[in-house]
Amino acid sequence: MVTGASSGIGAALARVYASHGYDVALSARRADRLHALADELRLRHGVESLVIPADLARPEAPDEILAAIRANGRTIDALVNNAGYSLPGSYASTRWEDQAAFLQVLLTAVAALTHKVLPGMIERRFGRIVNVASLAGLMPGSLGHTLYGPAKAFVVRFSQGLHIETQGTGVHVSALCPGLTYSEFHDVDGSRAQLSETTPTWMWLGADEVAQAGYEAAEANRPLCVTGAPNKAIAALAKLIPDEWGMALMGSQASRFRRL
Ligand SMILES: NC(=O)c1ccc[n+]([C@@H]2O[C@H](COP(=O)([O-])OP(=O)(O)OC[C@H]3O[C@@H](n4cnc5c(N)ncnc54)[C@H](OP(=O)(O)O)[C@@H]3O)[C@@H](O)[C@H]2O)c1
Repeated sequence: MVTGASSGIGAALARVYASHGYDVALSARRADRLHALADELRLRHGVESLVIPADLARPEAPDEILAAIRANGRTIDALVNNAGYSLPGSYASTRWEDQAAFLQVLLTAVAALTHKVLPGMIERRFGRIVNVASLAGLMPGSLGHTLYGPAKAFVVRFSQGLHIETQGTGVHVSALCPGLTYSEFHDVDGSRAQLSETTPTWMWLGADEVAQAGYEAAEANRPLCVTGAPNKAIAALAKLIPDEWGMALMGSQASRFRRL
């Protein structure tokens, strides 16, 4: 079961799981994209694909998605909490309705879906949970896109806690922390043009590479997977330097990476 499967890292993760023989349930808002991917996976890997259009900003969505899976007589062996986006602008300049929807998609839906599938996984003594966080979740706070880093930090810490709780149960939990990744993410938040001017291509990875790393981390039951050597170095540096220095660096550099 993959959320945010209509593009980018989510579609790539669905491809990886299907290539390993998993039947897939694909969810996102754009049903046409999901149907196209479902057809591709059926043809290429001979797996069954279930399309479940849903807007995770609606609090009812996790229950509706799981009801659709149950109605098809299926259980979830692997859950990929991937759907996400970023809200540009300073916190004060945004509307609360947009921030509340953001928290619903990036935090509450992740926690709810996981809470609803985990008991079954533990009972069946098999499960894989990949929570797509971000390198931003390992960095100090920054200006602009103000809740993005904190939301991803939540996903990292949440995954670590679950990882410990599920030791010995057959359930593996990993937080996947990509850095800059080619997908639709930066088109959606409007930072594509800016980033192509301010970031070197070596900082970017393809969604396929990121998805493969996430799959392997979950198989190996590694709690945290930072993708790519430059991002691993940045994550290590963020742990070493005092937060004040990190905040000063983020404050001076954020305009290169974020639409403010
Ligand atoms: N790209 C990067 O540089 C990068 C770096 C670090 C972490 N990430 C994380 O990676 C994850 C995937 O992002 P991506 O890079 O693959 O971006 P993307 O190509 O824009 O994909 C985002 C996915 O989330 C879905 N989504 C967004 N809002 C939704 C909602 N309200 N309800 C249901 N689905 C929703 C979108 O589908 P619909 O629009 O069809 O609903 C889409 O399938 C996100 O959690 C993101 O924060 C990305």
